Amino acid sequence: MWQVRVSPCGDFDNHPFQSEHFECVPLAAAMGAEITGVRLPDLSDEGVESLKQALWKHKMIYLRDQHLSHAEHEEFSRRLGPFAVDAYTQGVEGHRDVHPIIKEADEVTPSLFGGGWHTDSPFLPEPPSITFLRQVEGPPYGGDTTWTNCALAFRHLSQTYQDMLRPLRVHMSAANNFATQAFLRGEAIDFGTPEKREQGLKGTYHPFVRTHPHTGEPSLYICDTYAAGIEGMTTHEAKPLIDYLVWHCTQHAFTCRLKWQPGMVCMWDNAATMHLGPNDYDGFRREMYRTTIAGGVPV
Ligand code: SIN
Repeated sequence: MWQVRVSPCGDFDNHPFQSEHFECVPLAAAMGAEITGVRLPDLSDEGVESLKQALWKHKMIYLRDQHLSHAEHEEFSRRLGPFAVDAYTQGVEGHRDVHPIIKEADEVTPSLFGGGWHTDSPFLPEPPSITFLRQVEGPPYGGDTTWTNCALAFRHLSQTYQDMLRPLRVHMSAANNFATQAFLRGEAIDFGTPEKREQGLKGTYHPFVRTHPHTGEPSLYICDTYAAGIEGMTTHEAKPLIDYLVWHCTQHAFTCRLKWQPGMVCMWDNAATMHLGPNDYDGFRREMYRTTIAGGVPV
């Protein structure tokens, strides 16, 4: 019998997080929310705790018109937790944890930093928990970042499929990305030190279904860029599962998309999302800065 694919429906629960410190305005049915009524440096400690709860609920939150300096970006990041060690990029002068992501107007590249679906640095034994990105300058159109809610996607798998995945461990490694970048760009990714390079290529095995450290919510830990295999399986056995799960998670229904403005900031939860920043704004400059906050060992 011919069967069409049926779009996910039913369990969408992105109602606004309630806080006395700010308002939350949901962006899409699946995830994401705009935070209004506050400038980040003015948030009290209680307000920062509330913001973290909003982040765990909406998985990606953003604020307009913040226009943070590097120092303010750094300072607010510190209030979210200790900095993660960034796998590839180097910080700006005087602010080593604030990392530039800049594409110049005349730069044309077949492969861009963050251009494929990924979660940040999952090949590390302790991948970053939160990424905090801000825009200084951007294209008039294009350059939107898109996220997908991997916890919601997990709930939309059949019980049988969920049960099959729960005991598995996924091998996250930068090796495939490393080889692809070297082929497309004609130059190797600079990991900074030989130790970081070795760790990136060797990678780490993590639970395929991880439990959120703050909410206990189960989520797929999947990544199109870095999921390279499954423990105990051959590549031929693992690849169809990984490809299916990437396809499943990146269905439109589970996503939200942010059109940036200069001065905007955004934070996302790497334990429960994938994201991508597309390579679709040749001819325009895009200047972004990001910090990453340490996460523990995924369980
Ligand atoms: C990233 O993957 O961290 C960058 C995303 C973007 O530049 O939109």
